Amino acid sequence: MMEDLSLHILDIVENAVAAGATRVSIAVDENSARDLLALRVTDNGRGMTREERRRAFDPFFTTGRKRTGLGLPLLAQTAAQSGGRIRLESAPGRGARITARFRLSHVDRPPLTRIAETLLALAFGHPGVDLRYRHARNGVVFGWTRKGGRTGAVSPAEVAALRRRIEAGLGRIGAG
Ligand SMILES: Nc1ncnc2c1ncn2[C@@H]1O[C@H](COP(=O)(O)OP(=O)(O)OP(=O)(O)O)[C@@H](O)[C@H]1O
Ligand SMILES: [Mg+2]
Repeated sequence: MMEDLSLHILDIVENAVAAGATRVSIAVDENSARDLLALRVTDNGRGMTREERRRAFDPFFTTGRKRTGLGLPLLAQTAAQSGGRIRLESAPGRGARITARFRLSHVDRPPLTRIAETLLALAFGHPGVDLRYRHARNGVVFGWTRKGGRTGAVSPAEVAALRRRIEAGLGRIGAG
């Protein structure tokens, strides 16, 4: 089990980028009334065959050469342990969409405390990818999008500015 849900977000988005995605959208929905935390990541990568979909949750199944194949099995385990479940929708050429649900109040639900770090790592690690983040907390929404395609080095000042912006937005909705 990973100690923070943002690490799962990192893994799912890395999967998407590895599958050639140029557009990745991350949606988090926290709803106290329904006692639900839903996480959805949608990408426009190459997608998965039926066989890949079938095996995606098998530990050590991977199509990457330097990967271990534990990302999705760990996410499924985390969801199961916190009263939730995971769903994978994908077809070849049609991208992929992963939805994980957790019981918000479950004692074994990992926290979601490192979103800013995760988004910074993704934004600067994959400058070519369009990123979209949407976080709703009991109906109040923080959204952030970053158009990909830029080249050249990123300055520490830019990193700091983006961190401030994301932390302020998350603070506004009482998340992070
Ligand atoms: N968004 C996606 N698009 C296409 N294929 C995917 C996607 N996500 C996962 N897969 C397929 O499922 C496999 C398993 O993913 P998983 O995250 O469990 O392991 P991994 O990324 O290969 O290794 P690790 O996460 O341990 O570094 C991937 O190797 C890939 O073949
Ligand atoms: Mg992975």
